[in-house]
Amino acid sequence: MNKKKGFFLTFEGPEASGKSSQIKLLEKYLKQKNISYITTREPGGTKLAEALRELILKVKSNININEEILMLMAARSHHINTVIKPALINGKLVISDRFADSTFVYQGYVNKFGILNAKTLHKKILNNFLPNKTFLFELSSSQILLRLKKRKNKNKYDKLEKKFHNEVNKGYELISNNKRFIKIDASKPIDSIHKKIISHINLLI
Ligand code: TMP
Repeated sequence: MNKKKGFFLTFEGPEASGKSSQIKLLEKYLKQKNISYITTREPGGTKLAEALRELILKVKSNININEEILMLMAARSHHINTVIKPALINGKLVISDRFADSTFVYQGYVNKFGILNAKTLHKKILNNFLPNKTFLFELSSSQILLRLKKRKNKNKYDKLEKKFHNEVNKGYELISNNKRFIKIDASKPIDSIHKKIISHINLLI
């Protein structure tokens, strides 16, 4: 890792693709190796942004797409300025469970705000601040549904149908034709995914 500039890494993918479990495994590895890091998530990562997360993801919240995307941008701005950038300036590895790509996919593509419109807003409001690398977890919608059946605490997106998960996957396919993304087959065993992530991390930092 460049000690002066830090490294910003994000995990992206559809519901139940195992990102969060892999982040926990990665944390163990980084601790063992004495690598200085922080983990965070979106929507969230600060007190204000976590409060907005509650409102955005609440099953019954009655907000339209413009309101939702503006709340996400506000939460992200606060997260970047008060958590992510300061950690990067201190030379840390910053790992975020979701970031702007989720907005491009969920609001931009699935909820029809437009991928380009979401990217334009990101450029204008957040100065196009993007991760250095992104692990993109890929999982078929039938496997997503199987995994979600076992989940107890569901958010409003977890409760949706196969069509929704297909669209999320299509959205990620549309935005990921770019060398920032490292694609991960999320149907593989947890341990082999972990090994793959570690091998990439060792090349990146
Ligand atoms: P997760 O914490 O289980 O990944 O769930 C967060 C949910 O929020 C997930 O369904 C995707 C959604 N989301 C958006 O719709 N837009 C965003 O910008 C972000 C960060 C998340």
